[in-house]
Amino acid sequence: MNFEIQKRALSTLIREDLDAVVVLWPAPDDQLTASLDPISALVKTATQHGDFDHKPGTTLSLYAHPGVKTRHLVIVSVADGKPAKVRTALLAAWSVLKSFKVKRLGVHAAFDVSTQALQMAATTLADASYSYTSTLSQPKPRTLKHVVFSMARVSAEQRGAVAHVQALVSGIEVAKEWANRPANHATPSMLAEAAKSIAKGASFKCEVMGPKEVTKLGMGAFLAVARGSDEPLRFIVMRYNGAPASQAPVVLVGKGITFDTGGISIKPAAEMDEMKFDMCGAASVLGVFKALAELKPALNVVGLIPATENMPDGLAVKPGDVVTSMSGQTIEILNTDAEGRLVLCDALTYAERFKPKAVIDIATLTGACVIALGGVRSGLFSSDDALAQSIQSAGEASGDTCWRMPLDDDYAEGLKSRFADVANVAGRQAGSVTAAKFLQRFASKYPWAHLDIAGTAWRSGAAKGATGRPVALLLQYLLSQVGGAAAKTRVANRR
Ligand code: BES
Ligand code: MN
Ligand code: ZN
Repeated sequence: MNFEIQKRALSTLIREDLDAVVVLWPAPDDQLTASLDPISALVKTATQHGDFDHKPGTTLSLYAHPGVKTRHLVIVSVADGKPAKVRTALLAAWSVLKSFKVKRLGVHAAFDVSTQALQMAATTLADASYSYTSTLSQPKPRTLKHVVFSMARVSAEQRGAVAHVQALVSGIEVAKEWANRPANHATPSMLAEAAKSIAKGASFKCEVMGPKEVTKLGMGAFLAVARGSDEPLRFIVMRYNGAPASQAPVVLVGKGITFDTGGISIKPAAEMDEMKFDMCGAASVLGVFKALAELKPALNVVGLIPATENMPDGLAVKPGDVVTSMSGQTIEILNTDAEGRLVLCDALTYAERFKPKAVIDIATLTGACVIALGGVRSGLFSSDDALAQSIQSAGEASGDTCWRMPLDDDYAEGLKSRFADVANVAGRQAGSVTAAKFLQRFASKYPWAHLDIAGTAWRSGAAKGATGRPVALLLQYLLSQVGGAAAKTRVANRR
């Protein structure tokens, strides 16, 4: 999908060769209605008859209107024009337009749009028009290819925001694609191939390790999870070097369980198919790297993906087995369904070698996080207040929000074991926190944060599918490390 921004009056936009135009109508609109162009006049009449108001998402649609070249014109209320309202408005407008095979869409803002609202507009349209095609014999690919944003004034910041969002949407769509693919079309080896093809080019490196190398590294916890599967594990190490080597990197660690049956502690059958999404953390790392490849910011970033299936088998790890992690700590695996923390703990130890500025792991880690926060905010856990603060702010700025959860040591009580240094599960209470407490034991050498995306990475039910979260949050966080300048650099380079 392509995004463009133009300084333009509505009167010229509606004479362009576009399949549809959406006009974001703000409140208050006194100035607009006073100007009495044909559209303002129309809105005024509709308002007088009670057929249009300022409730965000209220639409007024015109078809083949005289003086308007575009056949479909939808006027939609955005109230104060804040990102959340823009989202509501565009979802409403898109539900009017979606059956018309719109290829080129104009979105006109009759007000000063913030860069955040612009980003929200683009990601909302990309998400609403998305169509999964990979494993369908007669796929219906998305028709929407091109979006032209227009407004009376366009700032350099807004232009930068469009360049940023262009890369962001590519990243989100990579994440959605890999997350949505069924587990037999997204094996650890296939994820590794995807990583290699994304991390191509001058500033990138990608190394893929298999069972032999991982054994040599002593990743006993990761290996324990992979034992039950015939699909060989992969440990993917992606590197993006956009800054001098002296600059400490940010390391992103994505949980890459390509299918989670629970192992010997097997899950119930209902909705088990959704456990193909248990690699959404990994998919978000792939998505971030895709965006980095487009934006080329002055940053160093490492992506680590421990990828494996979690399967029951004659050779599978059993409840009560004790394994030795790469850190040397022994772990009593009381529940083989708490496998995410086992693959992550070894990747967190591996991360030490990069002497990172910060390490963020991203994981569909616990059902308990879904209960705590639902599908609205991801769970954020961090031992470092400054890091937590910047991640939280990146969430607010991108609209891909999270909420900080506690890490008091008292929560770790239940992880005590008589047979190993630590158990991989505690009781039922505060399950997302005890999981984070487990991870924290392996992340003591650097500032660390953990995002539990079990509730936010995909939607269930009729609209089942990956959301591409938290690519937007992560990219926002990374670019904030270079003062958000990355997007501007790219725009300048293109001229
Ligand atoms: N991948 C699941 C977490 C999950 C469950 C995400 C449901 C989204 C929806 C994870 O591996 C898991 O099974 N966690 C267990 C941990 C428990 C055994 C301590 C869980 O949450 O039930
Ligand atoms: Mn599990
Ligand atoms: Zn899992």
